Amino acid sequence: MSQTVRFGVSMDAELLAALDGLLARKGYANRSEAIRDLVRDAIVEDDWDADDEPTAAVLSLVYDHHVGELAKRLTRIQHDQAGEITATLHVHLDHRHCLEVLVLRGLPRVLKKLSDKLVSTRGVKHGKLLVTTAGSRLP
Ligand code: NI
Repeated sequence: MSQTVRFGVSMDAELLAALDGLLARKGYANRSEAIRDLVRDAIVEDDWDADDEPTAAVLSLVYDHHVGELAKRLTRIQHDQAGEITATLHVHLDHRHCLEVLVLRGLPRVLKKLSDKLVSTRGVKHGKLLVTTAGSRLP
């Protein structure tokens, strides 16, 4: 780990009060840890915008497996891009509903396209892509 550096930050009093409120609601012990997390989030977001290095994401899908050929269609799409899918977890939520969690690795634009394809498949009730990082750019 690199050396820790202290620096001062000037901020509008109302903005600081809003930050403190946010910290309290989220349970942060101090401003430094919260600011570190905000900076890490900004770096991850910038990585996704840059789209020049493989990264990682988690996609969740909830669907009704009784709908037509839905399970087969979702499986076919996943097999077509098996290279981007590192792991899958399937949970039978109840009699009808399945939850699938996919761990994805690859270029941001490729992962977004794969996610859009799966989430927009007719019969998928909810899908959410959580973009994260492979970690190489985060100190
Ligand atoms: Ni199932």
